[in-house]
Amino acid sequence: MEQQYNEYLAYIEAYLDKTCFRYPDEPQQTLFSAMRYSLLAGGKRLRPIMVFEFCRMCGGDWKKAAPLAAAIEMVHTYSLIHDDLPCMDNDDLRRGRPTNHKVYGEALAVLAGDGLLTAAFRFLAEADLDAEARIRAVEVLSRCAGELGMVGGQVLDIQSEQRLCTEQEVLDIQARKTGALIRAACQLGVIAAGGTVRQYDAAGVFADHLGLAFQIRDDMLDVIGSKEEMGKSVGSDETKNTFVRLYGVENCGNLVKEHTALALSALSAFTDSRFLTSLAISLVERRN
Ligand code: IPE
Ligand code: IPE
Ligand code: MG
Ligand code: MG
Ligand code: MG
Repeated sequence: MEQQYNEYLAYIEAYLDKTCFRYPDEPQQTLFSAMRYSLLAGGKRLRPIMVFEFCRMCGGDWKKAAPLAAAIEMVHTYSLIHDDLPCMDNDDLRRGRPTNHKVYGEALAVLAGDGLLTAAFRFLAEADLDAEARIRAVEVLSRCAGELGMVGGQVLDIQSEQRLCTEQEVLDIQARKTGALIRAACQLGVIAAGGTVRQYDAAGVFADHLGLAFQIRDDMLDVIGSKEEMGKSVGSDETKNTFVRLYGVENCGNLVKEHTALALSALSAFTDSRFLTSLAISLVERRN
């Protein structure tokens, strides 16, 4: 598992560094620098790895999915830059570094996010895939990132801060703010490979359970994790409607296991799911 993870990781890191926002003749260098600052700051790269692995499991050439993997990481990174802004979560540490607005100021941080979001769709449009696959990729990423997905979830998240949410409300927030981009990642991999409808649907079921387990663990780590391990501030969700507030840390641990198991049962639609199985299991106890 570790060897495959490292191969995917090295590939996406090199691809992002090589292809993203190097325009020596353009005057707006501060913008490129702000975009690259957050995009190339490390991170687990889970969403690109999902793109690669679903593509490979569906019989595709995973390296050809690199523009899609880069696109989802750009959208994810933009969501983190905006999530950290003073008008949102007001955080000053991300991926082990000062947040984008702390370095470049709020206006540049907003615009770096805008630039990343916009560029993502150019990468999809220019991918070396047939036209049908590229159009489907645009449709899926747009749906999952936008008002019905991540952006919608972020709105519900900030609007719920002043009151106590029901379980269903917390689930609705999670499915949008975190789940939707994980779903997009898995389904983009299937699309890149030209997978079947059954594989596309199975990727969606896998992603929905994994995304839920992932956000529950994120909420747990805000309580039981450390700033050093996480590379972001902890203890910052005290006023939020987290899964920990809803269920307590111990029950959350059990739920992470349950939803990981449910995610794994969706993988029967694929012949070789060993890597994804180990990866999902390793996320149950993740510390960052
Ligand atoms: C953090 O995502 C935000 C959530 C959706 C919980 P990740 O935990 O994937 O962050 P990076 O990409 O590794 O920094
Ligand atoms: C993450 O929610 C959702 C998005 C960034 C879209 P959080 O606000 O919990 O993420 P962290 O904990 O700051 O990474
Ligand atoms: Mg937030
Ligand atoms: Mg946050
Ligand atoms: Mg969090």
